[in-house]
Amino acid sequence: MMQLDGTSFVQGASRGIGLEVVRQLLGMQPEGRVIATCRRPADATELKALTAQYPKRLRVIALEVREEKTIAAAAKAVALETKELQLILNVAGILHGPDFGPEKKLAQIQPEPLRHAFEVNAFGPLLVAKHFHDFLRHGRRSVFASLSARVGSISDNRLGGWYAYRGSKAAQNMFTKNISIELARVAPHAIVVGLHPGTVDTDLSRPFQRNVPAKQLFPASKSVAALLQVIDSLDREDSGKIFDFRGNEIKP
Ligand SMILES: NC(=O)c1ccc[n+]([C@@H]2O[C@H](COP(=O)([O-])OP(=O)(O)OC[C@H]3O[C@@H](n4cnc5c(N)ncnc54)[C@H](OP(=O)(O)O)[C@@H]3O)[C@@H](O)[C@H]2O)c1
Repeated sequence: MMQLDGTSFVQGASRGIGLEVVRQLLGMQPEGRVIATCRRPADATELKALTAQYPKRLRVIALEVREEKTIAAAAKAVALETKELQLILNVAGILHGPDFGPEKKLAQIQPEPLRHAFEVNAFGPLLVAKHFHDFLRHGRRSVFASLSARVGSISDNRLGGWYAYRGSKAAQNMFTKNISIELARVAPHAIVVGLHPGTVDTDLSRPFQRNVPAKQLFPASKSVAALLQVIDSLDREDSGKIFDFRGNEIKP
């Protein structure tokens, strides 16, 4: 039985994997509450529809992960509703934008996209930990998880390339380990992990799906169902580690 019946906080829920996490958490029994964030709640059509469907269980608040003051403001808004979170899930991530994509070679490195990837993929979960870890200082099991990626593993890197994405996810993984060490002291029931969702059919992977065999490209529904099972089964000894959607550890 899934243990997620308290309040969950999902950061980066406008679309893709984050939106599907919110959907599945709301569909789950026993019932829990969900606080979802996105950059522009007014434009988040799907989240608005879910709020209409679950007015007592879903709250949507604004958070732009590249602006710390919005993270601090979100923490204040959450504190008005609850002192305790059972799950904090950092989903927001970036691989490509309108004018940049993953680099194939050193000549393509540009400081601004590099900075952008690090700000969203690495600094984002770290700043959320800074402003939200007090919500995990309760005496029950809780999980602080960040969507990582297998390509952030240094030992697994055989192809190279994708400097900004690989580097920022590797940095995120180091922050995950660091946060796990600090929280073991101040919030000993909190489990801190990184999660690889598989290759999932979303805007993020769309330009790169051509070479992915059909059976290895998951709909978000399948990936999220698997990730929630992994989250549900984590123990204290798992804190600081990175897991894939099957629950297998990915070595750093
Ligand atoms: N899809 C895959 O195959 C795959 C594989 C491995 C890992 N992952 C990881 O899984 C996570 C989710 O990916 P996805 O496939 O669902 O991606 P997606 O469909 O592209 O969604 C990305 C999400 O991140 C949000 N976001 C981007 N920049 C943000 C910012 N500055 N502040 C706040 N939110 C921001 C987006 O919000 P807006 O709508 O406002 O842009 C959107 O909700 C990412 O961390 C990604 O690295 C995905």
